[in-house]
Amino acid sequence: MGSCVAPVSLLARNRPICAFRLPRSALYLCVMDRLIITGGRKLNGTIAVSGAKNSALKLMAASLLTNEPLTLSNMPNLADTRFLSQLLGVLGVEVFWPKGDSECRLNAAELTSTIAPYEQVRKMRASFNVLGPMLARYGHATVSLPGGCAIGARPVDLHLKALEALGADLKVEEGYVKAAAIHGLKGAQIVFPFVSVGATEHAMLAATLAKGETVLENAAREPEIADLADCLNKMGAKVSGAGTATVRIEGVERLNGTQHAVMADRIETGTYAMAAAAAGGDVVLEGAPVAALGAMIAAMKEAGVKVDSDEAAATIRIRRNGLALNAVNINTQPYPGFPTDLQAQFMALMSLADGTSIIRETIFENRFMHAPELSRLGADIQVRGQEAVVQGVAGLKGAPVMATDLRASVSLVIAGLAAEGETEISRIYHLDRGFERLEEKLTGCGADIKRLSDTEE
Ligand code: EPZ
Repeated sequence: MGSCVAPVSLLARNRPICAFRLPRSALYLCVMDRLIITGGRKLNGTIAVSGAKNSALKLMAASLLTNEPLTLSNMPNLADTRFLSQLLGVLGVEVFWPKGDSECRLNAAELTSTIAPYEQVRKMRASFNVLGPMLARYGHATVSLPGGCAIGARPVDLHLKALEALGADLKVEEGYVKAAAIHGLKGAQIVFPFVSVGATEHAMLAATLAKGETVLENAAREPEIADLADCLNKMGAKVSGAGTATVRIEGVERLNGTQHAVMADRIETGTYAMAAAAAGGDVVLEGAPVAALGAMIAAMKEAGVKVDSDEAAATIRIRRNGLALNAVNINTQPYPGFPTDLQAQFMALMSLADGTSIIRETIFENRFMHAPELSRLGADIQVRGQEAVVQGVAGLKGAPVMATDLRASVSLVIAGLAAEGETEISRIYHLDRGFERLEEKLTGCGADIKRLSDTEE
C-alpha cells in the first residue's frame, strides 16, 4: 500500500481522494487511479529508458556514508525513490530534488537521527538498506524490520549475518534492529549461503568504512551492484570485483561526495521490449543497458521476435509484424540468468505463443499473482507450485483486472495492449513505484492508454 499514501499537501486539489488511515501525525490520503487500455494497436516509435529504480535506491542510501553532497543524475521520478528521499529527510539528510527533475542532491553532512521508523520501512523494503551505512559512519543505528510483502516472506537474515560478521552487535527488539559497533566495523570474510542482491549491496555499503579488508563470496552479480561499486569508488571507497561472485572491499577512513549517473533500467527496457513484442509493431528502446539484458534478448529471439541490439549506441529495436510467437520455457535465476523482475511480463507474452511454455520462478515463493488476472483476459495458465504452465491462446480479450505488485501490474498492461477491446486495471499505485511516465511512453508509440482517478476506502 505504501506508494498510494501521500500527505494532503502532495495531492492535486481537484483529484478525488479518500482518507483510509489516520496515522498519529498527519492526515494521509489515498488516491486510487485506474488505467483504461484499449488494446489491439501496434506499437511504433521510440521509448527513452529511465534510470534504474533498483540502482537508484541503493545509491541514495550511499549518501549516508559521507558528510559531503552526493549528486545523482538520471534519477527516475518514482514513488519508491521519492519515498526513500522522504525517509532520508527524516534522518536529517538535506534533499534537493525538484519535482520531475532527473538530478537529485543529497547532503548528509549531519544526521539528526539514526532511527528509521516502522511507518517508513514497512512501506518499502529497500529502506532497510539505510542500516549499514548509518552503522558504519556513526557506530549505531536503529531500523525497523521491513516485514514480508506480496511476493514472498523476504527475510533479512543474510543482511543481519553480514553486519554481524563485520562486528556489529545486533538486537532485535519490538520489531526493530538495534545495531551498535562502538569501536567501528571490522573487515571480514563473508560467504553468502545463496545469492542475495540486497544483502550483497548492504554488506558492500557497510564495509566501505570498516577497518581492513572485507571479502564477499557468492555475491550477487547484478549490474546494479557494479553501478553501486562505481559510485562508491568515486566517493573514495576501494571496491573491486563488483559484478563477479567475489567482491573485495578495502575499508577507508572517510568517503567524499561525488556525482554519479544512475545506470539505465534493464527491467523497464525488458518490459517495453515485451510490450512491443506482444502488441506487435516496431519499437526502438533508447539508452538501453544492452549488455545487462543477455538472457532477456536470448528468450525473445527464441520466441521469434526480431531483436536488433547495438551496445555502442545503447539501443534495442524490437519488431514483430504478424509472425507467430514460439513458446519458450524459462527459469528465473540470479543475474546473468533470466530476471525474476521480468517473469510476469514474459508470462503475458507467452500467453499469446504458439504452444506451451513452462515458466519456473526460483527466486520468490509467491510471484505468480498475475496468473489469475491474466486468465481473466483469456490466458490459459495453470500454476503448480513454483511452475506455471502457459498454454498459448490465439488472442486475449479486454477485462477488468487488479494489479497486485509492481511487475505483476505491468504484465497486465502488456496483456491489455495486446488484447482486443478494453482492459481496466485497478490499484495501479503499484505501477507508479517503478515505471516512470508509463502512459506517456506508451502513448508516444501509439498505445491507447488513459489514467482515471477514483476513490476507495
Ligand atoms: C532485489 O530484491 C530487488 N529489489 C528485487 O526487485 C528483485 O526481484 C530481487 O533483488 C532479485 O533480483 C531491489 O533491488 C530494491 P534478494 P532483494 O535479496 O534484494 C531471499 C522489483 O520488482 N533472502 O536477492 O530483496 C529472498 O526472500 C523488486 O523491483 C533471504 O532469505 O532480493 C529471496 O527469496 C522486487 N534472506 C531471495 O533471497 C535475506 O536476508 C533473493 O532475494 C535476503 C534475501
